[in-house]
Amino acid sequence: MVKKKACIFISGSGTNLKALIKSSREYNFPVNINYIVSNTKKATGLKFAILYKIPFRVLNFNKLINLESILKDLKKKNIDIICLAGYMKILNKKFISRFKKKIINIHPSLLPKYKGLDTFQRALKNREKLTGCTVHYVDDKLDSGKIILQKKIYVEPNDSEQSLKAKVQAKEHRAYSESIVSIFR
Ligand code: GRF
Repeated sequence: MVKKKACIFISGSGTNLKALIKSSREYNFPVNINYIVSNTKKATGLKFAILYKIPFRVLNFNKLINLESILKDLKKKNIDIICLAGYMKILNKKFISRFKKKIINIHPSLLPKYKGLDTFQRALKNREKLTGCTVHYVDDKLDSGKIILQKKIYVEPNDSEQSLKAKVQAKEHRAYSESIVSIFR
């Protein structure tokens, strides 16, 4: 199987990145992780780039010069899909329109509920019985593109933000890989 080439954008701990790298090492998984981009050198997830010897780059996207240079990089590396995995910046509209391939994102709620930040806190406050994660295509509005896959978890009476996060992230790690399989099937 000729694998598609993926670039993962991160800002933080990179647990989704790690799960995707693991999946990509399976023979039947449709993509390889060929490039990692972070908007900050403080992203601890960059350790996975180093550990698995995947080329990476740290840059501030909102500078026009960087936008052009990253588009050039992605083209040169023949990237077929960008996966936002805890990327905490809103993707520049110009970038979205200029990158002609797929861009997908993972979000820790059952969209369209709880777009944006603090999703666990808000779900608890509203006494939700169910929450979860969503993988979706990225468009120029926040957390709004077409949904690819969702996974649900039950909110128990004694759940805290931390326990919800742990349960949702465990689902995320499977949801992201399953979504990629479904896109390229
Ligand atoms: C995930 O919960 C994801 O849904 C959100 O940011 C978090 C990133 O976690 N967009 P990690 O960096 O993959 O550990």
